Amino acid sequence: MPDGASWSPQVRPGDAQDVAAMAHIHASAFDEKAAWSAPSLLHLVETPNVFALMAECDRTPAGFVLMRVAANEAEVLTIAVDPAFHRQGMARALVMAGLTAALAVECDTVFLEVATDNEPAKALYQSMGFDIAGERKAYYARPSGPAVDALILRWTAQESDASAKG
Ligand SMILES: CC(C)(COP(=O)(O)OP(=O)(O)OC[C@H]1O[C@@H](n2cnc3c(N)ncnc32)[C@H](O)[C@@H]1OP(=O)(O)O)[C@@H](O)C(=O)NCCC(=O)NCCS
Repeated sequence: MPDGASWSPQVRPGDAQDVAAMAHIHASAFDEKAAWSAPSLLHLVETPNVFALMAECDRTPAGFVLMRVAANEAEVLTIAVDPAFHRQGMARALVMAGLTAALAVECDTVFLEVATDNEPAKALYQSMGFDIAGERKAYYARPSGPAVDALILRWTAQESDASAKG
C-alpha cells in the first residue's frame, strides 16, 4: 500500500477490456479449479443487466466484483481480490460501490452465496450488514473432501445502516 493516511482504493466501472485482468485476479484469489476463464468472464460482462466494478491500487487492477440486476433485486455473481492486495479495503470498497450502484437502479435488496467455510468473505459481508437468508446444502464441490454448504446472504437497504445510500 502506498504511504499516506489518505490512500483509499479507486473503484471504477469495468468492461470487456478488463477481462484478462479479471481472469488473472480470479485465478489468484480462488482455487485453480474454481477460477473463471477470460471467455466466461467476457460472456458475463457482455450480458445485459450484468455490471462489473474494478478496484485499482495505483492504476494496478487489484480486485473486481460482478453483479447482476433483475427487477428490484441484485446479485453478487463473484468478487475477488488479488492476494497481494488483501486486507487493504479493496473488497469493502467494491461491495460498497456495488450496493450504491444497485440502489441507483432501484434495487434495494442484494443477494449472494458464500461457502460456509469462507471465513474472510463471511466476515466481510457480516460487517456490511448482510444477513443469512437461506442455505444450499453441499453446494460447492471441493477438490478433496465433501462438498461444502452455501449460505445465501441478503442485504436490504431499509434494514441496513450501511452508508451505501450516501
Ligand atoms: C473475501 C475477499 C474478497 C476479501 O477481500 P479484501 O480486499 O482482503 O477485504 P477487505 O480488506 O476489504 O476487508 C474488509 C473486511 O472483511 C473482513 N475480512 C477480510 N479478510 C479477512 C480475513 N482474512 N479474515 C477475517 N476477516 C476478513 C474484515 O472484516 C475486513 O475488515 P477489517 O480489515 O477492517 O478487519 C478476499 O479474501 C478474496 O478475494 N478471497 C477469495 C475469493 C472469495 O472468497 N470471494 C468471495 C466469494 S463469496
